Amino acid sequence: MIHITINGKVVECKDGEMLLSVIRRERIDVPTLCHHEAVEPSGACRLCTVEVTKPEWDGWCDYVTSCLYPAKDGLIVNTHAPKVNELRKSILDMYLARHPKSLKIKQLAADYGVLATSLETVVDGNNCILCTICTRICDHMGFSAISTVGRGHGKEVAPPLDMAPADCVGCLACAKNCPTDYIEYETGNGRLKIWNKEFEMVACTVCGKTTVTKEFAEHLSQQRDIPFEYFEKCDECHRKELSATMGKIANWEREVRS
Ligand code: FES
Repeated sequence: MIHITINGKVVECKDGEMLLSVIRRERIDVPTLCHHEAVEPSGACRLCTVEVTKPEWDGWCDYVTSCLYPAKDGLIVNTHAPKVNELRKSILDMYLARHPKSLKIKQLAADYGVLATSLETVVDGNNCILCTICTRICDHMGFSAISTVGRGHGKEVAPPLDMAPADCVGCLACAKNCPTDYIEYETGNGRLKIWNKEFEMVACTVCGKTTVTKEFAEHLSQQRDIPFEYFEKCDECHRKELSATMGKIANWEREVRS
């Protein structure tokens, strides 16, 4: 264990632990758009930037992305130094210009006092901020069905050749974890459509509500050893079944004691 100072408080952490995880543990609010606990950090959004220094640096400071910066003994961190706040404001100003429809960005920008962008707005801009949480999470799940393609302004997230991706099982991890709700999908009539691919959903045998796609249920039952039948019951019916079982056990215990 080592000690670092965050905003004047000495805290203990592991040597090499990323600063952002220590900051979060200390319940200090640092904005992020590209961070997700389940996947490796990418340093794409720069919003988690903090000021770091050490007594032996003679007053010199550095500005680093805390999601990618490992803690070292004696490090002094300021999460909201004036220059850090200014940097976050500039980044959010730019995001607001490029993605004016994103509620998440509007909210973060407002938190930093940026109520309107000072830059020219991209009127038809979409909400993809290229944070790559979707592609990293898809890789992490073992599918790698989508990736970033193109360069510069033309860079975007897409399936290979913009066709229905063979490896996508419709797990929705990309869409559900997209911070700006950019990834669209449609559900209805027992089907799910995402990335130009259509899936059949498994229906709950008790109430009829759909659970996951057939492909995802098959994947989980093969790779994670979860019986396929598990997905033939929705969360609510699983919970009801569990409560009914607990009730029966409680009754049985009462009878045994009496
Ligand atoms: S969270 Fe986006 S750069 Fe660190």
